[in-house]
Amino acid sequence: MAYMEWGPALETGHDQIDAEHRSLVDAVNRLHGALDQGEDQEELGRILGFLRDYAVTHFTAEEALMIQVGYPRASAHFAAHADLIMRLSGLLADFRAGRAVVTTALLAFLEEWLVDHILRQDQDFGMFMRPGA
Ligand SMILES: [Fe+2]
Ligand SMILES: [Fe+2]
Repeated sequence: MAYMEWGPALETGHDQIDAEHRSLVDAVNRLHGALDQGEDQEELGRILGFLRDYAVTHFTAEEALMIQVGYPRASAHFAAHADLIMRLSGLLADFRAGRAVVTTALLAFLEEWLVDHILRQDQDFGMFMRPGA
């Protein structure tokens, strides 16, 4: 069983957003698998780096879509994205400098952040894009 399960509650109904969210969930699961199997720090860092870069890619696409459709709660949403990227970037810098390691607490934080963000903020945007649904 995967560490993070994908389910209908996480689906926004927007194909591109949902596909990208699945990729983020996959990356968290890969990080969990690597930690669980005792992979070396280099491999953990590689997955963490991918996760940060992919989050940047996804957030950029989501934000462009928000601007395109005139989503009224975009600025609060952008701030939430920026906050995660800053945290991930700081973490990655510490990790690369040997000042931090990937832990189960980090995994729990990532899982909780993603689920909470998708369920509240991304679902709100999803509903805005399909009024009346
Ligand atoms: Fe978002
Ligand atoms: Fe998202």
